[in-house]
Amino acid sequence: MDATLINLMKDPAGVPFFPVVFQGLYILTWALHAAFVLLALGAFGLSLYGSTKQKTDSNWKIFNPHLIMTGKFSVSMLILLGIAPLLFTQVIYDSGWYVANTLSGAWVFIFIYSLITGYMMFYWYAAANKKGKSGNTIIGLISFAILVFCGILMHNFAVESISPTKWMEWYAPNGVINNSGFNFHIDIIRLAFMVSLTIPVVGIFMQNYSDFLSTRKDFSSEYLTFVKNLGTKLAVVGLLISAVLFVVWMLKEGLLLNPVVLATIVSVVVLLLLAMRNKNSYVTTGILVVVALFISGVRELVRYNIMSGLGYDLYGYHMNLEIETITMFLLTFVILGFTGIAFILTMAWKVGKREGVFDASKDVAVTKLANATLAIFILWTAVYFAWGIVALFKNTL
Ligand code: HEM
Repeated sequence: MDATLINLMKDPAGVPFFPVVFQGLYILTWALHAAFVLLALGAFGLSLYGSTKQKTDSNWKIFNPHLIMTGKFSVSMLILLGIAPLLFTQVIYDSGWYVANTLSGAWVFIFIYSLITGYMMFYWYAAANKKGKSGNTIIGLISFAILVFCGILMHNFAVESISPTKWMEWYAPNGVINNSGFNFHIDIIRLAFMVSLTIPVVGIFMQNYSDFLSTRKDFSSEYLTFVKNLGTKLAVVGLLISAVLFVVWMLKEGLLLNPVVLATIVSVVVLLLLAMRNKNSYVTTGILVVVALFISGVRELVRYNIMSGLGYDLYGYHMNLEIETITMFLLTFVILGFTGIAFILTMAWKVGKREGVFDASKDVAVTKLANATLAIFILWTAVYFAWGIVALFKNTL
């Protein structure tokens, strides 16, 4: 394929900073998106089983509403955390992403409405489940299927964006233009691998859940052991399935002996051993984070190899260095982002550890973090608008 086309499709305005930095941020933020995709689908999927058991089983009666709540919260997080990698893809691989959005334009619209419908039905399922209505599993199943379908569509866009050699064939099969926007292409092994990861992720979450609640007196040790043991089984079986699918995917890509791929396999084996030993689930989660970053790195490696193999010069992307923009971005990301997240996480941790009602206003650390977040946010808003107004008038007057 002649690389002129994909290089010409790059944004003539260039990128505001070194492309490698955006590539790193893409890997980091996609790993975060994936973590919540997997937790959402894993917790939701398991809760469907739980909703059939909870009437007769006292453990499921306690656990199922918690699973549903985890799934519900994770969907909002996966949406939020999907935006960052979306922006980074558009910055450094814009040609691929926009072609995918053109080839599958109709699916892009369908994706948005499916996500809204699926997520609203999730709330319906949660409410019906709370009231113990018998039809709740059916509502849940439909909502779950819609959200899985959203993931399949995302996968379709990802596959199309890294297939420049097929673009013409898909856009104009046999020379006849197909502008329906219904192009749909999946790579079944890659997709199966992504979906399989939901099982170990929910399993390790259950180990965490059990360890976290073990300091509370209102949860019996039998209940926590039940959750932990089931979590361990899911983690081990799920990791084995995912590992096999990963190896098959890498064989197909011809990347099995690549150092990043080998490091990923080693980290998965370490994760498997830790999940099996089940001593300290927080350490296991730390390794899960490493595995997630490796998997995200492998996805990027696959794309980078394909695109650079075709002559796409990522690191030679025209750069229009804008120190102000990148400074604002990094300050927002690090100072506002980290303080805000520290506030939310500290509060969530303390709420979960406490029996009864937690009064955040009486907690010194939470109050300090809340005030700091608010002050930084007000300052950020003022700087953001002042900066924008200065830029606007500097250019127009
Ligand atoms: C229930 C909803 C969603 C599910 C289940 C889901 C799942 C997935 C999966 C499985 C992938 C990996 C596909 C692959 O590599 O083959 C992916 C990629 C991605 N998702 Fe999502 N996703 C969802 C919603 C979103 C939303 C709302 C956004 C944006 C706000 C988003 C942004 C992204 C991005 C940017 C990628 C990477 C695309 C690329 O660069 O190749 N996702 N998602």
